[in-house]
This record gives sequence, C-alpha cells and structure tokens, in this order.
Amino acid sequence: MNAPEHVSPGSWTYPGDDSTRYTDLEYWTEVARTAERGGFDAVFFADVRGIYDVYGDDRHTAVERGVQTPANDPQLVVPAMAEVTDELGFAVTRSTTYTHPYQLAREFSTLDHLTDGRVALNVVTSYLESAAQNLGLHERMDKETRYDRADEFLEVCYALWEDSWDDEAVRTDAETGVYTDPEGVSTIDHEGEFFTVPGPHGCEPSPQRTPVIYQAGSSDRGREFAAANAEAVFASQPTEAGVREYMTDLRERAAAHGRDPDSLRFFIGVVPIVGETEAIAQAKYDAYKAHVDVEATLALLSGFLDMDLSELDPDQKVEHIETDAIQGTMNAFTKSQPDREWTVREVAEFCGLGTTSPKIVGTPETIADELQYWHEEVGVDGFNVKEVVRPDSLRDFVDLVVPELRERGLLSERRPGATLRERLTGTDESRLPADHPGSPRTD
Ligand SMILES: Cc1cc2nc3c(=O)[nH]c(=O)nc-3n(C[C@H](O)[C@H](O)[C@H](O)COP(=O)(O)O)c2cc1C
Repeated sequence: MNAPEHVSPGSWTYPGDDSTRYTDLEYWTEVARTAERGGFDAVFFADVRGIYDVYGDDRHTAVERGVQTPANDPQLVVPAMAEVTDELGFAVTRSTTYTHPYQLAREFSTLDHLTDGRVALNVVTSYLESAAQNLGLHERMDKETRYDRADEFLEVCYALWEDSWDDEAVRTDAETGVYTDPEGVSTIDHEGEFFTVPGPHGCEPSPQRTPVIYQAGSSDRGREFAAANAEAVFASQPTEAGVREYMTDLRERAAAHGRDPDSLRFFIGVVPIVGETEAIAQAKYDAYKAHVDVEATLALLSGFLDMDLSELDPDQKVEHIETDAIQGTMNAFTKSQPDREWTVREVAEFCGLGTTSPKIVGTPETIADELQYWHEEVGVDGFNVKEVVRPDSLRDFVDLVVPELRERGLLSERRPGATLRERLTGTDESRLPADHPGSPRTD
C-alpha cells in the first residue's frame, strides 16, 4: 500500500525500517528500481478507503497503530515509477463500489499510455463500512449487490476500452487538419441498473486497451466474478490443499464462461524471510515476530472479517462464519484447515506477518526450493512476495533469492518493450484474448 503499513502491523517499529518514507516520491522510485533489478513482473498496490473501525475501541487502535492508516492514493506514484524503469508492471487496486466506470476507464487508459502498456487493474468491491459512509452511501452495500455492480462496472469499462475507438481512428494528419476520424469513434450507449454511459470513451486506444485484470475473490460470488473476468488471480489460501481446490474450482468456472481455463494465472502470497544461513534467517524471523503488534493485527482482522474481535476471549477457538467482508481470511483458518483448530490469539500472531500467507524462513536455497515446489508440483504461476520490513524484505529477496531463482532458470525471460499482458501470457499479444468477455464486440 501507499502507506507505512499494509499487512504486517507493528513492523514499521523495526529498527531501520523505512516505511515512514512512503510520502517521498524517491522512496517509490527506489522500490521500482529494486523490483526491476530483481526481475519482478509487477509491483502490486493494495488499496482501501476508510478506517479499520470495527475493532472494539472504534477507530482508536487503527489510527494509533497505523493499521493501513494513513494511506495515500497508489496510482499517483505509478508514472514516476514507470519513468525510472523499462519493463516493470504496476498492478493497482481500485474499487468498483466507490468510483464511476467512465472515470476509472479514463484513469487507466492514461496510466496504460504513460507506462507503455505496463499496467494492471486489481478489481475489488471493498469491505469497510467506513468507506461507504465517506463516499456517499450511508451504509455498505451487501456483497451480492457489490458484485452485481462490479459486473456492470466492468461491462462499461470493456465497452469504453475495447469498442469505442478503432485502431486507425487517430490520424494526426497535419495537412488536412484531421486529428481523429470521427467515423472511427463510436458511442457505447450503455443503460443498465447502476450506470448510464453513452460514451464515447475520451481516450485514444492505449497499448493494452484493457489493463490486465487481477482479482482475488474467494466467496462463491467472488469466485464467479474472478472466473469471468480475471487474467491473474490471487489465491489467498494458506495450505496446498486449499490452493489446489481454489485453482481447480476457478478453472472449471472459467471454462463454464467459455474461457480457456489455462489462460488464468494464479499467484499465491508468500512471506519470505531469508538469511545467508538458516540461523541468520531464523534470528530475523524471531526479531520480526517480536515486533508484531497483536492488538493492531486484531483491529486489521476485525475489518477483514467485519467482526469485532475484541469481544472474543483470545484463547477461544475460531469458528467458521460467512462474512460480508473478506471470506478468504475466514476460510483460511477453517475450511482450508479442517484438521487444525486455531485460537484467536494464534490467528493474530500468524497474521501479524503478512496475514494468511505462508512464511518461508531460510537460506536462498530453502526459499527457492519452496517456491519451485509450489510452481512445479502445485502449479501456481507466480508469487505475491509480501514485505515485512521496508526496504529490507524486498532487497533481501532481490539480492539473495533472485540469483538462486535465476540460476535454476525459474525467472521468466524478458523481452524489451513487452507489455505486461505479453509478459504474463508469454505471447506477443498485448490485447485481451478473444474468449475474454471484454474482448471487442464483433457485431
Ligand atoms: C492478495 C489479496 C489482495 C487484496 N487486496 C485488496 C485490496 O487492496 N483492497 C480491497 O479492498 N480488497 C482486497 N482484497 C480483497 C478481495 O479482493 C475481495 O474483495 C475480498 O476478498 C471480498 O470478496 P470475497 O469475500 O468474495 O473474497 C485482496 C484479497 C487478496 C487475497
């Protein structure tokens, strides 16, 4: 996040942590350079609106402990990061609940132009009640309605990005004074339940037109939405069985939507803690754990689950609930691990470093072994490498683990000038595939 803290509450207090520099543009250009040096396909920006005020004491803990607060807008730092890199992609989270598709389509066309086709959109529907109140809705929409709106939201965006401007519409013919051939620009005439958008789109076609679509839904409705739209999916399950089930289910659902199930790319979250020796890595892990702010983690999880965890006995066993907020966080400790019982305290301690993601502690070889296993045996395509301490977590990964991955031939080769979609699909196709629901209308 464009914030001092994302999902490791308390780690900003670690000696030498640089998180408070998130307000400096230079901080972000350094992140970009390091990530590009390390061969990353993209930097992922999470984003939320609102305050984590579900936890017992209203918003006090969230504000005091920096639980994803304060947080600046992530997409505004992207052009600066693009300027200092050539190949790195930028996946930016936006909520379909609190913006308008015409506005978002314009912003992402602009970003896609300015990055030469290196941008992705992580589509979320948002879960905090406080965001709804600040953004003109008196209360949060229920999940079903949020996803209905998201379906129509993307339908409008796809029409603006894909159907409104022909590739040849822009002529820039100084002799005749024709900048754009009006015949090549059409309205979209969208009238739906949530939006009325006549169009046309205000931007000329960008390299990818539609940014690469990321998604991370884990409820039944969220999985349907991801299966229909996502090109890259975050699997948030912490166990191998959970990840396998999720990937199989999403591929089946994608096929039912008429999409090639193998075109979906799956990324799991991991928290690598690396040292030159096992002992150094273990010492780092222990030191990081000592900085976990358990109460702040409970405030964070209360927001994820829309449930006030301050009311529970920390030694109470966690029981499954269906939540209108993030179902995946709940499933991680119940459905995904039917043979293990977790207490509230254990969940908070585990989640204090990168929430539900597995922590991988060890030498570069140990970490490469583990990533290789997930890739080759489980079939995940990539990893959302979560930072604990900034910038050490990223720098350690790039300096220690990446050389080992390169040596094993596990990092994808780069093609200079490729768009993010080309990189992720390994093709030379920058535009959406024909079986994607957003691909251009042929009528
Ligand atoms: C890796 C990952 C990153 C996510 N990032 C965000 C985010 O930045 N902002 C947000 O509002 N939700 C985020 N989410 C939440 C989901 O996208 C989704 O909205 C949420 O899981 C609720 O829907 P569900 O119950 O169908 O899963 C993220 C989830 C995962 C697994």
